[in-house]
Amino acid sequence: MAKKIVVLPGDGIGPEVIKGAVSVLEECASIYSLDLEFEEFKVGGAAIDEYGQPLPEKVVESCLDADAVMLGAVGDPKHDNNPTHLRPEKALMGLRKAMGVFANLRPILTFDELLDASPVKRELVEGVNILIVRELTGGIYFGEPRGFAESEEGRSGYNTEVYFDYEIERIARVAFASAGLRSGKVSSVDKSNVLESSQIWRSVVEEVHKEYESVELEHVLIDNCAMQLLARPKDFDVLLTNNMFGDILSDEASMLSGSIGMLSTASLGEEKDSGRPGIYEPAHGSAPDIAGQDMANPLATIGSAALLFRYSLQRDDIALNIESAIRQVLRDGFRTRDIAAPGEKVISCSEMSEKVLERIGSPTAR
Ligand code: IPM
Ligand code: MG
Repeated sequence: MAKKIVVLPGDGIGPEVIKGAVSVLEECASIYSLDLEFEEFKVGGAAIDEYGQPLPEKVVESCLDADAVMLGAVGDPKHDNNPTHLRPEKALMGLRKAMGVFANLRPILTFDELLDASPVKRELVEGVNILIVRELTGGIYFGEPRGFAESEEGRSGYNTEVYFDYEIERIARVAFASAGLRSGKVSSVDKSNVLESSQIWRSVVEEVHKEYESVELEHVLIDNCAMQLLARPKDFDVLLTNNMFGDILSDEASMLSGSIGMLSTASLGEEKDSGRPGIYEPAHGSAPDIAGQDMANPLATIGSAALLFRYSLQRDDIALNIESAIRQVLRDGFRTRDIAAPGEKVISCSEMSEKVLERIGSPTAR
């Protein structure tokens, strides 16, 4: 039976990086004889321009009915002053919530060829392998009440950081189960010295930990974690975070691998009979400053296509094939602007995608 993939290129460099990822999905479908069906929609700023709203209902319906969603990026400065419900980012928030993809996996890998692209010393980053498990459908991003107010004190803007025990429980389980398949350590990030929402976070994580005795658990305060991530990145295995801390720490951690252009993500919901909902996207934004110039790095998005095969289509073999093609491209010396050393030859976004495509092996040839 055909597998349906919804493709949402979005804004800025989104369409450029998505192109590479879709051609990789198509190439894999052809060499592994898979029946993949693609449906493409505008979201974010592109959808505001065309339909007057960032996430039309028909897009949500199609995503809910898909086997996986592949997304580029959303965000367009021309909509920066819109009210919250008419901002491009609302498309991402709305889709994550509608699909219930509460578990955002952000693997931070280092590539031998890119060690010098990292602003952090080579000896500190060499061998780093961290999985950030970020809660994605709760916390301050979604908490109510939120809004603007006016009082005698002046104008104000407010948001609510709230976590329910069931939200912490399910994301903690993802973190412990993932750690069990890796080096066996979870570092749970919070700000429990100040915030009640973090105190309940810490206590629920400890409860869930009892089910995973073989996994080691440490609690790290967010400010300290931001520092340790640069000072001793190799000591981390799985980083368990709430929505906002994970957003911040993942951009920081991407610098360990050299560029945010290398950071792939998978956002997963609860496993159901109909499969596991998943959104696959790069962690970077729409980068309006370089949009339309064919100079973005498509590797994070192509890496997300690998994650799509791994988690939504249960084809680890195909994921490994794509990941090995990415490593091969780097080994062969191809670089986009963000990962090039001074003086190194730079290739375009479309050329980089082409180079990966050429290196995807047929199943028998590998
Ligand atoms: C991310 C992005 C999004 C987020 C933005 C674009 C809404 O920064 O996926 O990390 O904050 O989650
Ligand atoms: Mg972010």
